[in-house]
Amino acid sequence: KKTPNQMLIIFGASGDLTSRKLIPAIYNLFKGGHLSKNFCVLGVSRSNMTDEEFRTKAILESPFLQKENSKEDPQTMQAFAEQFHYQDLGSDYDHSYDLLANRIASLNEQHGTSGNYIFYLSTPPSLYEVIAKNLSEAGLSKEKDGFRRLIVEKPFGYDLESAKTLNDALHHYFDEKQVYRIDHYLGKETVQNLLVTRFSNSIFEPLWNRRYIHHVEITNAETVGVEKRGGYYDKSGALRDMFQSHLLQIVSLLVMEPPISSDAEEIRDEKVKALKSLRIMKSEEEIVKNTLRGQYVKTEIDGKTVKGYREEEGVNPESTTETYAAIKFFVDNWRWKGVPFYVRTGKAMPTKVTEAVIHFKTPHHEVFMSQDAYRKDNKLIIRIQPDEGILIKFGVKVPGLGFHVEQANMEFYYSDLESAQVMDAYERLLLDAMQGDTTLYARADEVEAAWRFVDPILKCWENNPAVNTYGYSVGTWGPRNSDELIEDSFGWRNPGDL
Ligand code: BG6
Repeated sequence: KKTPNQMLIIFGASGDLTSRKLIPAIYNLFKGGHLSKNFCVLGVSRSNMTDEEFRTKAILESPFLQKENSKEDPQTMQAFAEQFHYQDLGSDYDHSYDLLANRIASLNEQHGTSGNYIFYLSTPPSLYEVIAKNLSEAGLSKEKDGFRRLIVEKPFGYDLESAKTLNDALHHYFDEKQVYRIDHYLGKETVQNLLVTRFSNSIFEPLWNRRYIHHVEITNAETVGVEKRGGYYDKSGALRDMFQSHLLQIVSLLVMEPPISSDAEEIRDEKVKALKSLRIMKSEEEIVKNTLRGQYVKTEIDGKTVKGYREEEGVNPESTTETYAAIKFFVDNWRWKGVPFYVRTGKAMPTKVTEAVIHFKTPHHEVFMSQDAYRKDNKLIIRIQPDEGILIKFGVKVPGLGFHVEQANMEFYYSDLESAQVMDAYERLLLDAMQGDTTLYARADEVEAAWRFVDPILKCWENNPAVNTYGYSVGTWGPRNSDELIEDSFGWRNPGDL
């Protein structure tokens, strides 16, 4: 597909996300020949910089480009850098938009970008509305002589109410079809592959329902703590930071009905329906029973003391913000009635992994007696990261006398594919926005449906000191009582377990 001529205007251009993710993604798109020749980037932020200084900092001396591309051709780098410009917006994001509009108009002439503009908001969310308003007042939001698109980063809102307010505010200045809400998990190949696994195979979908599935489990674990993001994280917590966005996106893809086609709206309609069918927990009792929050604590590892969450920079020493969250819930619709879903996410855990596990029911009549047959259920393990792939666990006969059953593995790894070159999530998502494809972006109603489910849990946790935040040691799988959430003594499947 051909990418139209266009200009990408990045707000928050001197920030971390821009240098760490956006510029390397644009660089790879450039090298891959995915960008139009008539393309340029205008970085906007509050710092005072010239075009040259911006190019040097963001590109020529960027550790994120130089490291990855140490064997890069300096001429390619230079040619890439020349497409970058910079505009200082003064001390806040509320002034100088006429100046910005003039600069955009002159760069549009210079680079022949056909009046097509994408505004990427990589700023604190509190600035989204004011930027949208100012862009609109400067005549930059209406699509008259080219397209105008607005990409907004997560977090999108702080709770249901603020997400709604933000949607309403953005809709004041931009149409929904112009707004691209980024969730970088949707840019991951393996997350997109959930749709393909389900809807392009006839061996899984007939089993994909309450009749054959016993329960569904999703684990997202990171080894890192909150690092330098304590200030942001302490006001957010795992439920907002990971669960409301990334994990509910995975849930919606696992749960949704087959869309009529791969058209963006058809897929998003089904995702919204899926999210709307999550059973909202109403009472405090229900929330306490079905959720668990935890926080990593100071831990001795190999004679060294590793900081606990409350000792991290920017974190309130008495904080009850969760760095681990586990939720059990049900999906109230025809397909999923009665099937429990268990989803957990945590920082400072033993390994970095994201996977979804579909546990199938054991055969309804036991022919081969095996004491722990129930635990040896068939499993479909979808490994989202790392070692991206799919694993099926099924029973085989142990050679020898009698009929002893053992679980064997059937494995597929992405790295075995011939065309294994996987685009980075930001690369893929940016290219989609440039080509006007919204499939992998969250729609307004989708984000709100996700918040609607999370909101009562957040409120209950926040307003209720009786809901404990359990401590867990760094490098463990969360609070000790986390297995109690899973009935039938199944316990969580820790990656690495058989
Ligand atoms: C971000 C969260 O959205 O996702 C971070 O804000 C988290 O806290 C990150 O570390 C995880 O992303 P990935 O792609 O490394 O799994």
